[in-house]
Amino acid sequence: MALFIDSSDPKEIKDLFAWGVLSGVTTNPLIIAREAPDADLGERIREVLSVSTGDVSVELTTETENEMFEESLVYHAWDTQRITIKVPFSETGLRVLHRLVKRGIKTNVTCLMAMNQAYLAALAGATYVSIFSGRVRDMGYDVRPVIAATRAVLDREGLRSLIIVGSVRHVMDVNEALEAGAHVPTVTPQVIRKMVWNPRTIETIAEFNNAWRGRSKTR
Ligand code: E4P
Repeated sequence: MALFIDSSDPKEIKDLFAWGVLSGVTTNPLIIAREAPDADLGERIREVLSVSTGDVSVELTTETENEMFEESLVYHAWDTQRITIKVPFSETGLRVLHRLVKRGIKTNVTCLMAMNQAYLAALAGATYVSIFSGRVRDMGYDVRPVIAATRAVLDREGLRSLIIVGSVRHVMDVNEALEAGAHVPTVTPQVIRKMVWNPRTIETIAEFNNAWRGRSKTR
């Protein structure tokens, strides 16, 4: 079991890795465009690498097989151990995935909405298969059976891909992803902070500390 952070913000990532609960980072072009529209991708990812540990997923932005493969090699060279090439799922994506797997490059097949897609990516040897919780729910479907069926087929067939559940919008999405069999939820900084917060916890700690301070005054 692992938890990844879904962000490209080096400050947030450094802060959150200090909690000791994270073991990887996922990014995508939309995240980077929103968080740092003017950033140089290579510099941004090198900063992310420097403040984190574990795999860092970087998504391809080109659309033809050879362009995607060449783009992958550029990203891979930034850190051959930790950079994980995020390959958008399609027929072309599968061809690129196959070439990367043959080279021993880590991969994360992304934008998956269904078990059959994740199964194909796993058969091709993806390191990770990313199921998009929020976007499946946007279509009016329950994502839990998708995650559970994917986990069941991977386990039954001895396929080694790990299931990342991304597109997480609420704490409940994390709980449900874990219960359904996800190996790795990837969560935004906002969601991980909400996982800490509980009013009853805050109230209880305040009650204990107030009692302790009151005791000191009466002594
Ligand atoms: C993570 O790997 C995904 O790219 C990300 O969680 C997608 O999130 P979104 O559906 O909120 O854009």
